[in-house]
Amino acid sequence: MTGRRTALITGANRGIGRAVGFELYRRGLDIVVTARDGHAAAATAAEIGPDVRSCALDVTDSDSVRSACTAVGRVDILVCNAGVLLDAGTDPLSVPLDLVDRTLAVNLLGAWRLAQAFVPDMVRRGWGRVVFVSSGTTAEFGGSLFAGAPGYSVSKAALNGLMTMTAAQTAGSGVLVNAVNPGRARTRMMPAVTRPPEEAARDIADTVTVADSSPTGRFLSGRSR
Ligand SMILES: NC(=O)c1ccc[n+]([C@@H]2O[C@H](COP(=O)([O-])OP(=O)(O)OC[C@H]3O[C@@H](n4cnc5c(N)ncnc54)[C@H](OP(=O)(O)O)[C@@H]3O)[C@@H](O)[C@H]2O)c1
Repeated sequence: MTGRRTALITGANRGIGRAVGFELYRRGLDIVVTARDGHAAAATAAEIGPDVRSCALDVTDSDSVRSACTAVGRVDILVCNAGVLLDAGTDPLSVPLDLVDRTLAVNLLGAWRLAQAFVPDMVRRGWGRVVFVSSGTTAEFGGSLFAGAPGYSVSKAALNGLMTMTAAQTAGSGVLVNAVNPGRARTRMMPAVTRPPEEAARDIADTVTVADSSPTGRFLSGRSR
């Protein structure tokens, strides 16, 4: 391939996604900032750098994903970062299931929709990197999920499952698929935390700027690095 790799980031108008945009730009990649609000995406893109592209993209909306796919063209690196935490402080036996439904729509099905839209082309071209931004609430694999945000925890555990299946299906194709727990970072989702989102963004960027010989299908925990 000639030219630079192109990275598309979902939910990149603020928080960790925005910081990932800055970090990957700093590492020399072409960036596409996406956000539900196209104006917010454009404003963030302009802040990152003069040659950074932007696109409106709502991960819950198939038409929006299709339009973004057409408008953006080739994507080599996909960062599925968009996420919501709607059910903090609830428990599995009383959480309103509409909150769980809305959480799964963004955190699981949104990422799944993006993978279906962009990964097949990566496989055809024989090169790609995908990172699903997961969470420590999944207790990695096997252990107890965090029950204080049950819909969120289940959505991220399921996202890890999606990662393993996508990695298995793309194995040997040149596409590496992993999930990252970015660790807690101060964002609108986690306003009381002191760790800056730039630190989480570096862990995510490390996962998508790896060599071709690097592993696929892993759940990486930023805090353990
Ligand atoms: N912060 C932490 O401590 C922490 C820890 C572990 C994992 N994470 C994960 O890190 C990721 C980023 O979280 P954050 O802390 O940066 O949260 P945040 O500041 O709340 O940002 C969430 C981002 O997701 C976007 N989003 C929500 N629904 C969307 C949709 N339907 N389509 C497209 N974008 C959508 C938001 O866009 P709008 O501005 O339009 O709402 C926003 O850009 C999430 O997946 C989260 O679960 C965060």
